[in-house]
Amino acid sequence: MNKLSIVVTVLLACLVSHSWAKIARVPLRAQANFTKTHDNIKAEKSILASKYLVEASTSTTATVGKEVLHNYYNMEYYGLMSIGNPRQYFNILFDTGSSNLWVPSVNCLSTNLACQNHNKYNSSASSTYVANGQNVSIQYGTGSMAGYLSTDTVRVDNIPIESQTFLEAVSEPGTTFVDAPFAGIWGLAFESISQGGVTPPLDNMISQGLLDEPVISFYLKRNGKAVQGGELIFGGIDSTFYTGSLTYVPVSVADYWQFEVTALKTQGVAIAKNFQAIADTGTSLIVMPQADYKAMNTLIGATDNGNGEAFVDCDKLSSLKNVNFIIGGTIFTLKPSDYISEISGNGETYCMSIFSYLEGLSLWILGDAFIGKFYTVFDKGNLQVGFAPVATS
Ligand SMILES: *[C@@H]1O[C@H](CO)[C@@H](O)[C@H](O)[C@H]1NC(C)=O
Ligand SMILES: *[C@@H]1O[C@H](CO)[C@@H](O)[C@H](O)[C@H]1NC(C)=O
Ligand SMILES: *[C@@H]1O[C@H](CO)[C@@H](O)[C@H](O)[C@H]1NC(C)=O
Repeated sequence: MNKLSIVVTVLLACLVSHSWAKIARVPLRAQANFTKTHDNIKAEKSILASKYLVEASTSTTATVGKEVLHNYYNMEYYGLMSIGNPRQYFNILFDTGSSNLWVPSVNCLSTNLACQNHNKYNSSASSTYVANGQNVSIQYGTGSMAGYLSTDTVRVDNIPIESQTFLEAVSEPGTTFVDAPFAGIWGLAFESISQGGVTPPLDNMISQGLLDEPVISFYLKRNGKAVQGGELIFGGIDSTFYTGSLTYVPVSVADYWQFEVTALKTQGVAIAKNFQAIADTGTSLIVMPQADYKAMNTLIGATDNGNGEAFVDCDKLSSLKNVNFIIGGTIFTLKPSDYISEISGNGETYCMSIFSYLEGLSLWILGDAFIGKFYTVFDKGNLQVGFAPVATS
């Protein structure tokens, strides 16, 4: 072949493969030089309570309310998506622990800082908008997220999801989201826990035949200071992101991405056996029942501050031991550097264990401290979750 025909052949191959590859790769971004504060953790736990303990979060409104001015939810990972025609862009938190898509509305209250600080969806400016108008509210510890449903084309990495219904938020709770680097949240869990009975975007992507495979996978970079935060893949798995093979376990209850963990062990002691856990990209923490939290702190020499946060002496990090999760017959090891997080406050840095608890919650929540260490596949087609160690470059 001459040069020109090679170029033409390659071009054609690219065009053909592109029209068939139904995969959306969403670069995830992280906030540069982000160090959590005590208030970030508090906000995260308030969000977790609203997701997993609906009644408890309602009843704690009063106490949390006193501190709303400092209650910020600054998750590190978010990506870009658009709504409407022409496209209106939003930074969004991709959250496997909830099932609704919401963005701030152009009709949000002028007094609502969280909404005013971010991009707002303007339905009048979109030719593909279809009105719905049903009111929906989601209760958070710091107040409620209120708004109404609208329908439009939602795009992620150029894949158009037609007739996607989402929540246009007109009021966001307290100051939880004011400083968040993302405007809204894209829930990736199951329809059964979707507020307003809305079909989640992932379900529509699958039913509209937009994905090669009915899976999503998360690669979260844990190199702390970088802006490059990893990648979320809709419709596929990238084996260059992990080493060895994926260990799959069945989804036990298809509300959240819930599955059974065989055991959690450290220093030869089984802290817990045969328990139910949820893989949740919307939190940085690992949440466990209170009794297990106490046992864990005793073993790693961490001290509780009275608020369900445990701290270790930063000088003693080198003496800490690994923690092993046994899932589907495979051992998943977290090193001390994986489960100790730096927290800043009063001009100082503290070493906090990411193991935490929420009073009244018996489920375990495995957040980014786990998902960042283990590439995670959320397989809707086969109702299973897969994990493999992230390849370190
Ligand atoms: C992050 O820290 C690096 C090194 O200290 C610095 O060069 C950079 O400007 C910082 N970036 C931001 C966004 O603060
Ligand atoms: C919303 O879009 C319409 C149509 O483009 C425009 O007239 C209006 O000013 C926009 N509203 C706001 C608040 O930007
Ligand atoms: C939705 O909420 C708004 C603001 O609270 C209210 O004015 C409107 O009547 C509600 N609509 C319906 C259909 O309930």
